[in-house]
Formats: sequence, structure tokens, C-alpha cells
Amino acid sequence: MTLAEVVLTDLANVLPALNKNIEMNKDLWKQSGGSARAEELDWSKHAEIDFKPEIILLADCVYYTESIEPLLDTLERLCGARNDTYALLSQEERDTPNQKPVWSQFVEAIKKRFKITPVMLSEQHPTYSSHDIRVLKLTLPSKDKKETQ
Ligand SMILES: C[S@@+](CC[C@H](N)C(=O)[O-])C[C@H]1O[C@@H](n2cnc3c(N)ncnc32)[C@H](O)[C@@H]1O
Repeated sequence: MTLAEVVLTDLANVLPALNKNIEMNKDLWKQSGGSARAEELDWSKHAEIDFKPEIILLADCVYYTESIEPLLDTLERLCGARNDTYALLSQEERDTPNQKPVWSQFVEAIKKRFKITPVMLSEQHPTYSSHDIRVLKLTLPSKDKKETQ
């Protein structure tokens, strides 16, 4: 039993797709004894967030320069929710002239705000991993200080 309480978030126009996904997978998550729901969370709105996640999963969320700071602001707020909160970010490193600089800018920006622990390919699932997909564990540096005090 996992008993995970999962909240899927995205922009309002994507909520129907998230709800469809939740419905299609309901046998799986119901069997686990947990729950799943979808909520709007627009990184640029600085809206109230009424859940306190233990683990934040982000897949392929880095693709516009303009969204880097709003995304990191949101992530910082969510990572501060509990003492043990951390984020796992996965991102396909794309070679296109538009996407390459966005990833470099993102990496420079997260270094200033988070402790980054790369999840090595050898630690990842052999089927669900790829050499061009980065997986990073992110924690707030202030939490490290609390742990060592
Ligand atoms: C490349 S898709 C990845 C979707 C999904 N995580 C996946 O891996 O299939 C990027 C997602 O970021 C969402 N997004 C873009 N700007 C956003 C914002 N300001 N706030 C919240 N989500 C945003 C998009 O709606 C889109 O669903």
C-alpha cells in the first residue's frame, strides 16, 4: 500500500486532460489506497497553494526563458512547505537552437536557489531512463543547514 495523495497541476486549460488521465488510471491508484486530484497551478500567478507536498515531480517543464523565474518561485514555495519536501525534476536535454540556451539558463538559475543532486543514469530504472534525460533532486539549502545544526 502506498497511500499517496497525489495532486496533478497545470494551467486551467489542461485540467480536462489531467482529469481524464486520473479517471483512466483510477483502478491503479484506488488499489494503492491513495487518492488523485487535479488543480490549477499557474507558476506566474503567485496564487495560494493549499497543499503541502512531500515530493514534487516535474517532467519536461523547462522550455521558455520567461517561465524559469516563475517556475523556480513556485518550486521554492512548495519546497518550503514541509521540512522533508524535495523535488525530482526530469528534463529531456534538447539540441535545438531555441531549447539549448533555455536549459543552460535554467541550470544557472537553480544553482543559485537550490541544492542540486543529479540522479545518475545507473540509479534510474533501466527501461524508463535515457542518456538525454536529466533527473535532478532539488532541495532548499536552508533545509541542509537545519539538518546539520
Ligand atoms: C512539455 S509539457 C510537459 C507536460 C507533462 N509534465 C509531461 O511530461 O507530459 C509542459 C507543461 O508545462 C505547462 N506550463 C507551461 N507554462 C506554465 C505555467 N505558467 N504554469 C503552470 N504550468 C505551465 C504546460 O501547460 C504543459 O502542460
